Amino acid sequence: MIQPLNTYFPSNPMMQKLKSGMIQTLCLVMLLSVNFNLYAQTYGKNGMVVSDNVLASEVGIDILKKGGNAIDASVATAFALAVTHPEAGNIGGGGFIVFMDSAGIVTTIDFREKAPLKATPDMFKDASGKLIEGSNHETIKAVGVPGTVAGLYLTHQKYGKLPWRELVQPAVDLAKNGFPMTWGLYRVALNMSVLDPSFDIMANYFRNASGEIVQPGEIWTQPALANTLALIRDKGQDGFYRGEVAEEIEAYMKAKGGIITKEDLEKYTAVERKPVKGTYKGYDIYSMPPPSSGGVALIEMMNLMEQADLQTIEFNSTAYVHLVAEAMRRAFADRAEHLGDPDFNPDMPIDRLTSKEFAKKRFDNIDMEKASLSDSSKFGQLYDGSSTTHFSVVDKAGNAVSLTYTLENSYGVGMGSSKLGFIFNNEMGDFNPEAGITNSSGQVGSNPNLIAPEKRMLSSMTPTIVAKDGKPHLIIGSPGGRTIINTVFQTVLNVLEYNMRIDKAIEAMKIHHQWLPDRLMYERHLMSPDTRDALEKMGHKLYGVNNLGVLMGITYDPVLKIYVGAADSSSDDGAAVGY
Ligand code: GLY
Repeated sequence: MIQPLNTYFPSNPMMQKLKSGMIQTLCLVMLLSVNFNLYAQTYGKNGMVVSDNVLASEVGIDILKKGGNAIDASVATAFALAVTHPEAGNIGGGGFIVFMDSAGIVTTIDFREKAPLKATPDMFKDASGKLIEGSNHETIKAVGVPGTVAGLYLTHQKYGKLPWRELVQPAVDLAKNGFPMTWGLYRVALNMSVLDPSFDIMANYFRNASGEIVQPGEIWTQPALANTLALIRDKGQDGFYRGEVAEEIEAYMKAKGGIITKEDLEKYTAVERKPVKGTYKGYDIYSMPPPSSGGVALIEMMNLMEQADLQTIEFNSTAYVHLVAEAMRRAFADRAEHLGDPDFNPDMPIDRLTSKEFAKKRFDNIDMEKASLSDSSKFGQLYDGSSTTHFSVVDKAGNAVSLTYTLENSYGVGMGSSKLGFIFNNEMGDFNPEAGITNSSGQVGSNPNLIAPEKRMLSSMTPTIVAKDGKPHLIIGSPGGRTIINTVFQTVLNVLEYNMRIDKAIEAMKIHHQWLPDRLMYERHLMSPDTRDALEKMGHKLYGVNNLGVLMGITYDPVLKIYVGAADSSSDDGAAVGY
């Protein structure tokens, strides 16, 4: 029989203190057992999924529990995110996977979108040759040939374990049966309802059968998306790139003035590529090669930081922020000048840019007293879409996946066939729009990233795995357009150099410099006024923002043999789930 607690604790002060301690411990144990999300870090002995949406993380964990490997869990999580995190989770966009298997072999899968066959270098210009503002981001011609389904399919064919159907089914269920509308999605739905009605799919996207916007907590179903996902489940890659989905994509494009055809879809292939590799003080860093610029820039900056005596520079002091910003400025200048799709630019100097000698030269010309100038007569970069999503996965055997994929802008181009239920990307905006035009506002005109049919546009996505002794030590990535490279860079540095817990490394102040425009972005609530003033005196042009990065990371504790995961607190619905 259960006695009232007081009967076990006589009323002397010592016993009462013990009682209150036990009650607190009991409450803590109960809370921990029902809610994985109460604490910034999450632990797992057998595996971990950290994504921008808790339901998608749980889908991945369920697959691991069924005996799937990290690739299986990633495929299932990616499809689930296309339903539960439609701002960036997608089947209408593209992305990259970095995969380290349990033997320590690392490979990557490139499923970046491609320019359609009818694309031309001048497609976003008017008859007089002038760039039509916004046309490379806000019109149906901004859509690149989607790569996500092909990328997930190829990855599964090569490295998956469970049947494909079992990995797509959870997403079909989520779309068909629905899930409770979250406040994060609801806020977007309210914003979208006042958007331009030409964003056809968005106008009805978040509405229920009575035409009302689905309220927080109300079940939101997506029957058209469920049908499209069921075709992908049953037919694999062909369920998207051939047959009725491909027919409808072509018909929709034709009706709206787009240029993607069935031929584009049939010809699309994802590609396996060798990762870029760097080292930092005994760690091996693996990341995405071109057509992402992320890995090359990350390794260049890590090499540069290795040159500095960081023991003598206080973390986040003026000198530290200056040094990090100067590293960024240089890496972004090199990115602008040299990088593009490797299938069109076979001679990119990747080995040089990622070498220790090059970093030494780059480090030696940093003046620790004053900011360098970004010279717009050479090269620079535009900002690009900040809505992408990253997730990190690891399984019991030590297979690790770092996956970032995107629609470019939040909800991509905002258009898509309501018969298919998904939104198209607006990734064509990641190409350089005008040959030879590079200016201080940030437009770049270098050759490697000009538009050509079937070319992949340069990306900043930086899915990364850091290994120690051939085992994954850190799995990390983020959305954020060009800020991705820098938020991943700083988080990697925080873990490797400062041995920070993953949640602290993610939450610590981030800055961003991308050469052009010449300004230093910083998280305004995290930088002291003194540091800001001192940086301004050195010549930096400061620009405060509320947030940089939505990082999703996992670290491995080799002593305790546990995985430790954390989702950035700036994610509305993100969660690390371990088991
Ligand atoms: N769309 C963002 C990127 O690929 O960098």
